[in-house]
Amino acid sequence: MKPKLLVARPIFQSVIESLSKKFEVTSNQADTPWTPEAWQQAIAHHDAALTTGSDPINANVLGAQPRLKIAANMAVGFNNFDVPAMTAVGVTATNTPDVLTETTADFGFALIMATARRMAESEHYLRAGHWKQWRYDMFAGAEVHGSTLGILGMGRIGQAIARRGALGFGMKVIYHNRSKLDATTEAECKASYVDKETLLKTSDHLVLVLPYSAASHHAIGASEIAQMKPTATLVNIARGGIVDDAALAVALKNKQIAAAGLDVFEGEPSVHPDLLKVSNVVLTPHIASSTVKTRLAMAQLAADNIASFFSNGKALTPLNQMAVK
Ligand code: DGY
Repeated sequence: MKPKLLVARPIFQSVIESLSKKFEVTSNQADTPWTPEAWQQAIAHHDAALTTGSDPINANVLGAQPRLKIAANMAVGFNNFDVPAMTAVGVTATNTPDVLTETTADFGFALIMATARRMAESEHYLRAGHWKQWRYDMFAGAEVHGSTLGILGMGRIGQAIARRGALGFGMKVIYHNRSKLDATTEAECKASYVDKETLLKTSDHLVLVLPYSAASHHAIGASEIAQMKPTATLVNIARGGIVDDAALAVALKNKQIAAAGLDVFEGEPSVHPDLLKVSNVVLTPHIASSTVKTRLAMAQLAADNIASFFSNGKALTPLNQMAVK
């Protein structure tokens, strides 16, 4: 009998078709929202789940002796998984590192550019028919080239953004991270380690690329924003909850910093209503990894993790080390 696989959200048809050769697939291609009860029931009846970053796998969902053996997240971030709880009941967890690094870094850089150069704000102005004549100071923004790029969280994506900034835009790159990079990687990225306070005070453009956890909750709140330059910009492509969105909306309204670019939000897809009211913020709906090629690679890696787990007992990119149940 084929193992039963739940695909929680719509994914590429070609991936579903190849999975169907090895698994009895139940797929939510209609994207029907899961109630907590329906989600728990669905998980209880499957051997494997291909999830996205919005599908929780935790002790409550799993119960004491789950049928589930593996949950493969189609995301590099995995704060929707309680990995220790999964490990405790023998469920393998996987994510999709590497395949999205460069694409996500491209988007992070695009958001830095759009935020510094006021692209969304000026486009809205033009569309609204307000553009009557050229002016010397019209939407004057901040320089990107030659400025100081600060990066909070220096994993693969942070490093890819650093390379873009240093090599492509001649930026001075500083970073803060739980651990300092080795000297070779620092040299490759042309990045220097600083403490968080220096990062906040010195960056012209600060980009957040750290994973979400209880420790990084509101890593950027009112007091951190207060330390930033009034001309600085802030970009969040990491996870909602790392920034205190309410505090940021106040700071943007009061021009405590120049502007922000946000791809992720606390409680998304809801967006703090005060962020929608300020013009000096670029808002995008969690699309940093969204190119056709990369999203396909992410779906394929999640599928390959499940296939590999069932064929030889080993997932390709595991977050925990589990014996096959
Ligand atoms: C990721 O891969 O973590 C992206 O944010 C998509 O969820």
